[in-house]
Amino acid sequence: MRQQTNDSKSPSGRREFLKSAGAVATGLYLAPSAGAQEPAAAKTETLAVNGGKPVIIKAKHRGVFRWPQYGQSEKEVLRAALDGDGGSFYRSLPELEAKWREYNEVPFAKTHMNGSSALLSMYFALDLPPGSEVMVPSYTFFSTITSLRFFGLVPVFVDIDPRTATFDVEHARKVMNPRVRAVVPMHSWGLPCEMDHICDFAKEHDLSVLEDCAHAHGASMQGKKVGTWGRMGIFSFQATKPLPGIEGGMGVYQNREDYERATILGHYKAPASGELAPDSPYRKYVGTGLGMKLRMHPLAAVLILKQLEKLDKQNEIINSQVRKINDRICQLPGLSEPVCRKDQDRVYYSGNTLFLDKAKAGVSRAAVVKALRAEGVSLSVWEYPENHKYAIYSEPQWWHHPIDLPKVLPGCEEVNSRAINVSLFRQEAPELVEQYIKAFEKVWAHRKELT
Ligand SMILES: Cc1ncc(COP(=O)(O)O)c(C=O)c1O
Repeated sequence: MRQQTNDSKSPSGRREFLKSAGAVATGLYLAPSAGAQEPAAAKTETLAVNGGKPVIIKAKHRGVFRWPQYGQSEKEVLRAALDGDGGSFYRSLPELEAKWREYNEVPFAKTHMNGSSALLSMYFALDLPPGSEVMVPSYTFFSTITSLRFFGLVPVFVDIDPRTATFDVEHARKVMNPRVRAVVPMHSWGLPCEMDHICDFAKEHDLSVLEDCAHAHGASMQGKKVGTWGRMGIFSFQATKPLPGIEGGMGVYQNREDYERATILGHYKAPASGELAPDSPYRKYVGTGLGMKLRMHPLAAVLILKQLEKLDKQNEIINSQVRKINDRICQLPGLSEPVCRKDQDRVYYSGNTLFLDKAKAGVSRAAVVKALRAEGVSLSVWEYPENHKYAIYSEPQWWHHPIDLPKVLPGCEEVNSRAINVSLFRQEAPELVEQYIKAFEKVWAHRKELT
């Protein structure tokens, strides 16, 4: 286990933050000789947005960004599964559960139809009295939150830390009340939440910790995989995710009671198939389970099993490409990346998120994005939902108990106003890495010309 060396909230952590967020963001930026910014050559060129030659020929590199990547080995295992008889189709489900337990070092795992049904089953397993409150991030996909309503549970919206885009435990302390019984950190874009701080906070208030790991397959903190810090956790295997099965979900559980409850809600075969303990109180529900059918498609499990063999290698490739790019471009004035502590091993989902500080860069996000796109950089800008603004939470007919909606969550707003998502490189691409760095340096060298 690695020791925590870089707490972003401690003074030493602050030092690391300045380093990893780009010292330039603080006005301390390195001299150009350090290989960092605004090389003279970049200055003499004309920006592509102003009619100059783009740095990157985009069409040449489409394969680098392709996701998911299914090849011959996936086709072979799927064909073999289709050639099996009806009785063998479902074998892939317990096989995947066993592999997921082993990979994450967790005692119980259950496959579900998708991440959303894994969440529904997790909140059923939580088994809290109606009216209990559950802390959730507003910055997430809707299904982290919405299924609370089926169990009479009430969301308490928590902000994100703008330095990480993950759960802000300091804000959670401010909105804590005696009805809160559980907390749901979500590991945004593959960066683990500060699980040590969150677990300390949960312990102080006797709260259950439930992790939404839909973005973070293979990420860990202090050597412990995400999903295993809390009482329960969920993963999504939807097509865009780091471990893509097109659709699919998984729940992980530290104790048998939670695993069995989460199973019996949507797996009517479980009482007869040996998935429950001999003395399980749920064995009597043969033929019905507890009313839903949330089983994963077995061909998705075949696909996920094959992709799982490549997960660590794939995460490593993406990480190394991001590091090569960010170690250079995050030296540019006003450009930084989410703070990752030294005791966190993050993965990347969806994009390489960068933060643009307009005041320090002296240029707007829109102008920079337009200029980078013209240079051939593949990137996007979009706002991730602030869920508390959705209609469903303001209409009492969907909830048995009132919800206290925040007026504003400044961390969410800051991240949404600053984020730029550069496409992830899914293959080693040294030449393209250099071109991306060059494109950023060129745009920065000319940024005063941009409006
Ligand atoms: C944070 C988060 N939680 C849960 C889910 C739900 O997963 P699924 O799409 O597999 O239902 C998603 C899906 O994108 C997600 O991003």
